[in-house]
Amino acid sequence: MLIHLSNLCKVYNTGDVEIHALRDINIEIDRGEFVAICGPSGSGKSTLMHILGCLDRPTSGSYLLDNIPISGYNDKELSKIRNRNIGLVFQSFNLIPQLTVMENVGLPLLYNRIPRDEIHKKVIDILENVELEKRMLHRPGELSGGEQQRTAIARAIINDPLILLADEPTGNLDTRIGQEIMNIFSRLHKDGKTIVVVTHNHTVASYAERQINLMDGMLGL
Ligand SMILES: Nc1ncnc2c1ncn2[C@@H]1O[C@H](COP(=O)(O)OP(=O)(O)OP(=O)(O)O)[C@@H](O)[C@H]1O
Ligand SMILES: [Mg+2]
Repeated sequence: MLIHLSNLCKVYNTGDVEIHALRDINIEIDRGEFVAICGPSGSGKSTLMHILGCLDRPTSGSYLLDNIPISGYNDKELSKIRNRNIGLVFQSFNLIPQLTVMENVGLPLLYNRIPRDEIHKKVIDILENVELEKRMLHRPGELSGGEQQRTAIARAIINDPLILLADEPTGNLDTRIGQEIMNIFSRLHKDGKTIVVVTHNHTVASYAERQINLMDGMLGL
């Protein structure tokens, strides 16, 4: 089992008010699965994705990632686990505007102290995989939305993470380009990647093998 959530809860404290964003969540995801987490706005999808992606911790309950109990780690340890194991893709791409496509994609490898020529070779390989090699010296501001998201996907997979997580990856793209992006996820899944996509969009969710529904922070049918 790659991901194992048991009785997971997340409570946000905002002043006097407690918001129960996730209540008693139990989820198991195997290696190689392609899962969509679906639900309306405010149902807790991004909260769940942040916890799965080791960007945040649950308030209670346990999260085992590849049998490692995540809840007990501090921020520094958590970011190490994240860099090694998790690839993240967001709705708004989150690329660094000053860096070229190549530099953005190679960034996760720089943190791991890999020699420059090895980084260069890996970056070119991945950019060919997402058909961006002709854009590698451009900056994000000079790219279309679809090209920016393909850059973000390349950056997310360059470390060969255990799991690729995406939060509304097609939310800022038109339908046709969104399909191209989902086809890339399907291809990566065929190649053996474990993928979790968070979305409120049923067409996007239909690319996954399995759907998990969230409603008011709880698992639904
Ligand atoms: N940092 C935070 N502080 C306080 N409340 C939060 C915080 N983040 C999210 N929430 C609340 O938790 C609930 C779940 O939010 P979340 O962002 O996970 O929903 P979502 O399903 O991703 O929605 P959307 O589809 O609009 O992105 C909402 O009621 C939201 O207002
Ligand atoms: Mg969200």
